Amino acid sequence: MITLGIETSCDETAVALYDNEKGIIAEEVFSQIDIHKDYGGVVPELASRDHCAKIMTVTESTLKDFSLDQVDQISYTAGPGLIGALLIGENFAQGLALGLNKPIIPVNHLEAHLHAPRMSQGSKIGFPFLTLLVSGGHTMIIEVKSLGDYELLGETRDDAAGEAFDKVASLLGLNYPGGPALEKLAEEGDSSIFQFPRPMMNTDSLDMSFSGLKTSVLYELKKITDPSPSDLANMAASFQEAATDVLIRKIEKAFDVSKSNCIVLAGGVAANTLLRDKMTDLSNRLHVTAHYPPIKHCTDNAAMIAYLGSLYSHHKHYHLESYVRPRWPLNEISK
Ligand code: KG4
Ligand code: ZN
Repeated sequence: MITLGIETSCDETAVALYDNEKGIIAEEVFSQIDIHKDYGGVVPELASRDHCAKIMTVTESTLKDFSLDQVDQISYTAGPGLIGALLIGENFAQGLALGLNKPIIPVNHLEAHLHAPRMSQGSKIGFPFLTLLVSGGHTMIIEVKSLGDYELLGETRDDAAGEAFDKVASLLGLNYPGGPALEKLAEEGDSSIFQFPRPMMNTDSLDMSFSGLKTSVLYELKKITDPSPSDLANMAASFQEAATDVLIRKIEKAFDVSKSNCIVLAGGVAANTLLRDKMTDLSNRLHVTAHYPPIKHCTDNAAMIAYLGSLYSHHKHYHLESYVRPRWPLNEISK
């Protein structure tokens, strides 16, 4: 069975084909980064317009070695995300489903991130497992018990970790999205020069906070008149050290309350090398396994949407009505 997946929740227009027997057989992602970078963040109206402009060509190039007749069902991201952007994907998916007379499956984008690692490492990642989902929009530790059964153990109370990386990067004069640029700058810096706070790191809760850390960088920067390149690099390294310390400490605590012995790092920030190195050390210390899905499946993509659609086929019959939800917490996913 082949599922065509469509993702348009934020600033990536993506289409993929998932074959139950062969796995992902085609996938394309068009990133809108160049459109939004001058604004320092995603501009919702520009995102919708560009999804509209690109969805057809991205679909055609995904299908270049296949035909629409081979598609058995269509899944698409129905939320959470930018409403205008989601509606483009939904309308396109519904048009296809109507034209092909095939079933349609609206799926939750966060849930798709949770199952994405199983596409390539399925048998190695058994239920229950923990996931740290760290992106520009989310920072959550979730216990994945089975398909449709998730427990949110902790989340950020303010900025997402990726958002903090992006904002600090911007303070340091780096371009959006700043996470990868900040990581590169940090390589030249000394992380012991600035002692930034680790907010909420030692509380009992598994919740996190990153906005105070970002503000400390701002205050520290203001104290230096005309910061040198090495000041900026030291600041980047010290910030990165503090942010990853908080994430790792919370993961360690999550293992105290969870029955899992495996953790998956997902979301754009999971690409960060220092975070991965610290995670590897922690997993050795706790005798648990850590999985890092391929970066292209950590960040937004349609392969995970097609894959989740394949897991949910036959679960429910959907009609051609709107299922789009800008806010759609995991605990509202019906089993
Ligand atoms: O999952 P993603 O591609 O998109 C969503 O936010 O949904 O994540 C993007 C985020 C951005 O905030 C970006 O700066 C951050 O992930 N990021 C990183 C790195 N690569 C991407 N943050 C820290 N280190 C990195 N190497
Ligand atoms: Zn995402």
